[in-house]
Amino acid sequence: MIVSQKNLQEAKGILVLPFFDDGKQVVSVYDDKPIRFAGLSKDEFDGKLGKTAIMNDKFGFRKVLLYGLGPEKEFQLDFAREMAGAAVRYALSLKSKDVNVACKKEWAQSVTEGLVLASYKCIKFKSKVEDYVPLERAYVVSSGNAKAEIEKGFILASAQNYVRDMNENPANIATPEKVVEYAKDLAKQYRLDIEVLDKDKLAKKKMNAILGVNQGSVKGAYLVTLTYNADKRNLPLYAVVGKGITFDSGGISIKPSKGMDSMKYDKTGAMVSLGVMKAVAELKLPFRLMSTFTVTENMPSGSAQKPGDIVTSYLGKTIEVLNTDAEGRLILADTLTYAAEKKPSLMIDLATLTGACIVALGRVRIGMFSNDDRIAKIVYDSGERTYEKVWRLPLDKEYSEMIKGDLGDVRNIGSESGEGSTITAACFLKEFVGETKWVHLDIAGVDHVTSSHPYLDKGATGIGVRLVVDCLENLAKK
Ligand code: BES
Ligand code: ZN
Ligand code: ZN
Repeated sequence: MIVSQKNLQEAKGILVLPFFDDGKQVVSVYDDKPIRFAGLSKDEFDGKLGKTAIMNDKFGFRKVLLYGLGPEKEFQLDFAREMAGAAVRYALSLKSKDVNVACKKEWAQSVTEGLVLASYKCIKFKSKVEDYVPLERAYVVSSGNAKAEIEKGFILASAQNYVRDMNENPANIATPEKVVEYAKDLAKQYRLDIEVLDKDKLAKKKMNAILGVNQGSVKGAYLVTLTYNADKRNLPLYAVVGKGITFDSGGISIKPSKGMDSMKYDKTGAMVSLGVMKAVAELKLPFRLMSTFTVTENMPSGSAQKPGDIVTSYLGKTIEVLNTDAEGRLILADTLTYAAEKKPSLMIDLATLTGACIVALGRVRIGMFSNDDRIAKIVYDSGERTYEKVWRLPLDKEYSEMIKGDLGDVRNIGSESGEGSTITAACFLKEFVGETKWVHLDIAGVDHVTSSHPYLDKGATGIGVRLVVDCLENLAKK
């Protein structure tokens, strides 16, 4: 799909027109005599948030969809994304190939994001698609020149859709080997440095925490590192680290079969680290970036890791694996140590790490942890701006006490009862980051949506791309 700007005189077909609940026009459509709610009665349309009304043949358009934004003083940019989502769905329902969305210039980036995100639909696994006419063009109708805003929104949302599209691939398609190919394709396209450590190399480096998780699988394990601007040594270096479990069966501590299919999304962190890289390379942002992730399956078998096993991590700390389903933190232990060796000025990891995070925060906010208050604040603000919202959770030493090992140095779970287990998981990761400034994002609750969302179809969300890019961009400015 293409998104560009049009002025009202050129626009044709379907127009989506926003109103606050006071009825005043937001965008000058009929300058000479502004009409409250385009002339509709309060019963027909009241401008309340998310409310719509359809007008036929108004101002020379085929259809005009009035869209309510609620009270002006409560406006948030995400409402603009939601409006764009409604615009796309309305256009699709009319089988129109294009749509126009009127908005303020300051909303153009968000509107573009909403348009691009709402028009992604995963149809690649259907042998035949009936009754679906994809949107080809969308126009942002605003005053002033919004070219830069539209371009930025398009790049960010396209990177997010790229993550959604890879993430939707099930475990028989997105094997660890295939995920390595995704990374190689990206490296080729954007001329990035790439390093792939396979099982032999992981064994040479004694990355036993990764290898233990892979042990039950017939497929490989790979630690992949892509670097953008690798030779620009004077620029700050950031690292985005991802959990890439292509399927989490739980291993010997096997999961219940109900809903196990959703464990194809356990690679989200790794996919987001690729999506961030894609966006950063396209935006040509002024810093160096490492995208580092480990991919493997977590499977039960005669060769699988067993509860009680003790492994020596890459860092040298010994880990008692008391539950093989707490595998994300095991692969991240070695991956974080490896990324930290490159001395990034910040390391952000993303992982679908704990079910307990969904209990704590539901499917709304990302669980955020950090060993640096200033950076935690920057991430929080980025969350509010991008609407990929985070909530900080603590890393007190009392929680670290809960993962002290009996035989080994650390255990991979806290109590059997699971008390505070989102936090003990984060404390486990902290054992492997050393002095590096670090942020951990537990994205377990937000990796996919189970029912339709205002601008995301049911399925993978690709959440994290816009959040992390916004955060790095702001950090590099400071
Ligand atoms: N991948 C899961 C976490 C998860 C659960 C993500 C549900 C999305 C939805 C992770 O590897 C896991 O299994 N964690 C366990 C940890 C427990 C054994 C301490 C969990 O959360 O139950
Ligand atoms: Zn697990
Ligand atoms: Zn997992």
